[in-house]
Amino acid sequence: MTQDEMKQAVAEAAVERIRPLLQSDTVVGVGTGSTANLFIDALAGVKHLFAAAVASSETTAQRLRDHGIDVVDLNSVAEIAVYVDGADEFNPHLHLIKGGGAALTREKIVAAVAKEFVCIVDSTKRVDLLGEFPLPVEVIPMARSYVARELAKLGGMPIYREGVVTDNGNVILDVHDMEILDPKALEQQINNIVGVVTNGLFARRPADVVLMGTPDGVEVLRDAH
Ligand code: 5RP
Repeated sequence: MTQDEMKQAVAEAAVERIRPLLQSDTVVGVGTGSTANLFIDALAGVKHLFAAAVASSETTAQRLRDHGIDVVDLNSVAEIAVYVDGADEFNPHLHLIKGGGAALTREKIVAAVAKEFVCIVDSTKRVDLLGEFPLPVEVIPMARSYVARELAKLGGMPIYREGVVTDNGNVILDVHDMEILDPKALEQQINNIVGVVTNGLFARRPADVVLMGTPDGVEVLRDAH
């Protein structure tokens, strides 16, 4: 099975998994990226079963609308039943690195609101220790150099993702070679740097469940404690 076939399988499995939650007033949170795109395409098949979606990026909002799915503003929503999104890496505690698609801030906001976070990945994303994938950090543009110096003090090597402006008008620093032994602590530490909007560690609000596509089928993973 190719990586794309594994992504397709988890996207379809995610729709089946959330189907019992879908009611006429249900709002679904939808992530960003190639796996999330396949989920959106599969979700279109059950669009008559739920009310609307909240999107984690402009790209996702457009794809949802193209399928005829109503996209609503998060501020008009009291509850998101479930959020489905991909990840760049996950560990056995279902802590994630996200932001490869530069949508980390809106992704983290939607994940925070959602009652359940279902992460959809293929098996290439599984790691024991987070950090092989460079950690994305969204930064207010005028603070870019200052934040880069502070991130270097934490032991990482920040690289400016040139030419990328987030949906919020900010820039991305990708932090290479960061030793992430305590993801929850590091998430908070980076957030405390003035000028940082969000970082791509999802450890304080991890996934509740990971659906992982493997060559042998889809595995359902929970925190290994
Ligand atoms: C976007 C993300 C994506 O979820 C992450 O990059 C995974 O993407 P893909 O499904 O294309 O591998 O965090 O900001």
